[in-house]
Amino acid sequence: MSEFKKRRKPDPVYYGDYLQLNKLLDAQQPVSPKYGPEAHDETLFIVVHQAYELWFKQMLHELRSVHGLFKAEYLPDEQLMTVVHRLHRVVVIQELLNQQIKVIETMTAQDFLEFRDYLVPASGFQSIQFKALEISLGLNRDRRVAFDQESFYSRINDSDRAYLEQLEQEPDLFSYVDAWLSRMPFLETPDFSFWQHYQSAIATEMAHDEAIVESNDLLTDAERAAELAALAATKANFVALFDDQEYAKLQAEGRVRLSQQAMQAALFIYMYREEPVFNLPWQVLNSLVDIDEQLTIWRFRHVMMVQRMLGSKIGTGGSSGHEYLRKTTERNRVFADFMNLATYLLPKRILPPLPESVKQALRRK
Ligand code: HEM
Repeated sequence: MSEFKKRRKPDPVYYGDYLQLNKLLDAQQPVSPKYGPEAHDETLFIVVHQAYELWFKQMLHELRSVHGLFKAEYLPDEQLMTVVHRLHRVVVIQELLNQQIKVIETMTAQDFLEFRDYLVPASGFQSIQFKALEISLGLNRDRRVAFDQESFYSRINDSDRAYLEQLEQEPDLFSYVDAWLSRMPFLETPDFSFWQHYQSAIATEMAHDEAIVESNDLLTDAERAAELAALAATKANFVALFDDQEYAKLQAEGRVRLSQQAMQAALFIYMYREEPVFNLPWQVLNSLVDIDEQLTIWRFRHVMMVQRMLGSKIGTGGSSGHEYLRKTTERNRVFADFMNLATYLLPKRILPPLPESVKQALRRK
């Protein structure tokens, strides 16, 4: 008998049972009726938060599977394709979540006052899935913005704290990607010295930019000096890319996070992304930039909504509300290095073509 015939006949499924709708739809329990008349908008508040938590669950599911794929020493193209596909799904969910802010914004600040005080001290700080998402991406405790000199860890219960602390011990997406990039074979073969070519092309480009600033009569002396100083700073960053000690300094100052090798590999992928062998790696990096950008947009949309709801009041979790949240939009970033790579790119017309020997070496990885 064939495998197909041996398979057990599936049990009939009923829509509501499969989705456990009894449980799901019984889980919206406003607290306002305990203290007086039910606040009409509390149901919206609960449903919107629950919808977020469901999507957070799906995003964590995708990220866990991507971690699993990156764990392998070698990532063949089929698996890289799956990574790209799942990261893209995360981005699409994020876009949806960003739009959902508009739904909660249909509640006015005054309507929120009908039940806000009953929620103290619960807060978005206690969204363990949101914190798990941040940690799984690579935002660990040393890097996140603290509020009132404390960590959100002081606001969550023991079992949630233990769960997140354990998660912080595990590799995150940032470290997987850093290791994967660092494994790329590097690009000095007997017939091709890319970095040497790159450095001299940069020197020419920078000298060209300096000459434009020097000869621009529209600039005042002070403006010229400021522009030249900015160019010198960019030049110093370029030099650091190829100088171990200077690069280590940038890392120590928190100006870059990627390892030097990973940074060089990423730069190479960005510059040669049209080569078939770099197509998927570039899509991976681009998805990470999308995730970071969407998360920052969410933080920004959330803080705007919070200011609209609370003005300058503190949050139910006791932080300085929108002030704390505004700082997170600027500083709680994970993949900013990939965005900043744009600083180091060169126009295609001055890039050397990749020799066949390099392409073959890359295909083997
Ligand atoms: C009336 C609507 C909302 C208000 C007034 C509000 C307010 C706040 C405030 C003030 C904070 C800072 C912590 C505190 O002091 O409590 C916060 C954090 C947070 N909120 Fe909201 N929030 C609202 C809706 C939402 C929604 C719909 C979500 C979706 C899940 C959400 C998720 C979060 C998260 C994850 C944090 C922690 C952010 C971080 O630490 O970076 N909030 N919220």
